[in-house]
Amino acid sequence: MDKNFQVVGIGNAIVDVLAKVDDDFIETHNLVKGTMNLIDAERALYLSGQIKDAAIRSGGSAGNTIAAMAGLGAKTAFFGKLADDEMGKQYFDDMNALGVHFPTKVIKEGEPTARSIIAITPDGERTMNTYLGACTEIGPEDMDEPVIRTSQVVYFEGYLWDPPRAKEALYDAAKIAHAEGGKVALTLSDVFCIERYREEFKELITSKTVDIVLANENELLSLYETDDFDKALDALLNDCSMAAVTRSEKGAIIIENGQIMKCEPFVIETVLDATGAGDMFAAGYLYGISNSLEMKEAGRLGCLLASKVIQVIGPRLEESLIEIARAEGFDL
Ligand SMILES: Nc1ncnc2c1ncn2[C@@H]1O[C@H](COP(=O)(O)OP(=O)(O)OP(=O)(O)O)[C@@H](O)[C@H]1O
Ligand SMILES: [Mg+2]
Repeated sequence: MDKNFQVVGIGNAIVDVLAKVDDDFIETHNLVKGTMNLIDAERALYLSGQIKDAAIRSGGSAGNTIAAMAGLGAKTAFFGKLADDEMGKQYFDDMNALGVHFPTKVIKEGEPTARSIIAITPDGERTMNTYLGACTEIGPEDMDEPVIRTSQVVYFEGYLWDPPRAKEALYDAAKIAHAEGGKVALTLSDVFCIERYREEFKELITSKTVDIVLANENELLSLYETDDFDKALDALLNDCSMAAVTRSEKGAIIIENGQIMKCEPFVIETVLDATGAGDMFAAGYLYGISNSLEMKEAGRLGCLLASKVIQVIGPRLEESLIEIARAEGFDL
């Protein structure tokens, strides 16, 4: 069957509040560098008062990936819960301007649009403090069935295990997608998130609810509770037929039907802000999958886009992604 959409992303729709901090900030506020911490409204207010010169950008992990795929010219859709407020409107307008089909109903009353206060340390690492707000309301009623049925890939974030009714929605979405020959992809999101939901994520993979797994190196180690990368990779190889593992400055590894392929990184001078590296990689990789590129080329496109986003503040790129890809020989 012909599909209308290459990918539909499902994720927490979050506005990023990005600020440079010194290393003391991480210690003073009891944070673990490089992780995503869930916070309440009060702490969000408090932390907002502790940062200076913040940049405000549309974010959210799957949202960033979908925005980038749309920028590459892919037909995309996104489900994510926003409130009826200024931040929500800005988020919707950003997606709309990129041509992303975004049918999720906004919440008229209740909590505001989600925000993440992102502390960027001098090494370029990002530490996120996320107030989920309106995102906690996503549920099965937000799974637009015709969109899922007509998407090649349904892509969702592990972060969706935090809102209470999202997992139910995702199982529904996976069932619909599989009935129509679509694929389901999951990013493991974050080490703390895996610590909260390890067995459920493993079940998603071993039950084949998920066909494609994306993770960074630490997330892979955490999933299989080992310090041995090769051992973790073997376990993943055994559990699923398609996967991508990102390894920061070491590039990425692609798994396809029992084969392991290495994608070299694009060498850059300095990392300004790591925010969105994994999401950009996912965009290139999923673009490749849904356009039948060779898997290694899909991974190379992911590495290319990721290397660009870590040289700017925030998770999205202003430049034309098509031009970026063409300059490296991709036929887009
Ligand atoms: N220092 C670097 N130099 C070149 N490329 C990099 C560097 N860091 C990251 N990348 C690129 O970005 C991709 C994703 O990076 P990484 O493994 O750090 O993801 P991540 O931890 O999920 O990132 P984040 O969660 O901050 O978005 C890597 O596969 C690589 O291609
Ligand atoms: Mg990541």
